[in-house]
Amino acid sequence: MFSVTRQHATQLDEQDALAQYRDAFIFPKGKEIRYFCGHSLGLQAEQTKTYMQQYLSDWGNFAVDGHWKGASPWLSFHEWFQKPLSLLTGAYPDEVVAMNSLTVNLHICFASFYRPHRKRYKILTEYWNFSSDRFALESLVSLYGYDPKDAIITLKPKKNRFIVEWQDIEEAIAQHGSELALVFFNGVNYYTGQAFPMEAISRAAHRVGAYCGFDLAHAIGNITLSLHDWRVDFAVWCSYKYLNGGPGAVGGAFIHQRHALEKNTPRMAGWWGHEASTRFQLSGKFKPVKGVDGFQISNAPIANMIGLKASLELFLKVDAKVLAFKREHQYQYLCYLLSSLCTVQNGKKYFGSIISPQEENQHGSMVCIHCPGGKSLVDELHSKGFWVDWREPDVIRITPSPWFTSYSDIYALSIYLSKVMVIK
Ligand SMILES: Cc1ncc(COP(=O)(O)O)c(C=O)c1O
Repeated sequence: MFSVTRQHATQLDEQDALAQYRDAFIFPKGKEIRYFCGHSLGLQAEQTKTYMQQYLSDWGNFAVDGHWKGASPWLSFHEWFQKPLSLLTGAYPDEVVAMNSLTVNLHICFASFYRPHRKRYKILTEYWNFSSDRFALESLVSLYGYDPKDAIITLKPKKNRFIVEWQDIEEAIAQHGSELALVFFNGVNYYTGQAFPMEAISRAAHRVGAYCGFDLAHAIGNITLSLHDWRVDFAVWCSYKYLNGGPGAVGGAFIHQRHALEKNTPRMAGWWGHEASTRFQLSGKFKPVKGVDGFQISNAPIANMIGLKASLELFLKVDAKVLAFKREHQYQYLCYLLSSLCTVQNGKKYFGSIISPQEENQHGSMVCIHCPGGKSLVDELHSKGFWVDWREPDVIRITPSPWFTSYSDIYALSIYLSKVMVIK
């Protein structure tokens, strides 16, 4: 049970099993910043600087030999990521790889898993797709000569709603079943904060003979995933949000073992996916490395992986259940405070409603408030040290991070909002 007092917030901070990790991250300079933008760019893990320095010294000291020498030789650098990424996604180590960036990985996976054939060429996806995913999907079907308006079915929430009901997804999959080549959703939607029932979507897609893939930009490091058991065909993600990997950090991909271990799975090939011993030979056929590593194209962008390594080391130290508990607890605490405090109307300028679902397992840590005209409020909050963000057309996004957000931060933000906003 929560209460709306400052004392209660302090008490929750004192009981917080993860409070010590706040100091493992660097906050923006300036007056006290309450950072709620981990859904956009996570904070820098302290250890990043040391590893970056190490990378620069290794490059300086060893030059090309750095591929084999130094603290973390570059040739096998990407292999370190298998363990933490497999834990975060509920996958086997040979199903996950850190490579490229999200949209690039999306195109790579589409090349393997969009296999239109006669009447089966359509893609079912969600209406509130992020722009990059929409562009990727439209360009994909156009490449095959289809009209995006015909080949892409976008599922809208019911009128005046933001959340897409499972029943509607199930019905759409069944209705279009024989035409569907691919079902593609987000794990957690970037605009509404809704977490989709990935296992149910994956099973329903397979029942009608379609492949199933997910964009996990807002899911990885945020909700509990079991991609292998859910039999998801593929998933892609970025690492700069909940994984705190740094701006433009290397992305990642999951490909289920049943495809990743099959050497005949069609793919866009490059030398880094080819078996290591013959990578430099001038002739010979492409022989994929076993597992998702065989879907790599270029050599690993080491500098771009260092912030992620520093952050994932922390994920390895902490029990995932403890992180999940704090995420859920802070989410409920923030929703509770907003609903309790932002009540009386008297002269308040902003009118919002929380659109991310309240039910457990239907949201991550991002609380989304639909607030037409609220962009100026986001600017005002920023100037007061409360860093939240705005997504067009009408949503304020607020995300406590179990790594670096305190209960007192959430309390302070809620008190500020209570002076200017009514939650309807
Ligand atoms: C949901 C979602 N998908 C895709 C992207 C694009 O990612 P990238 O620029 O790493 O390809 C983003 C970026 O924020 C995103 O939020």
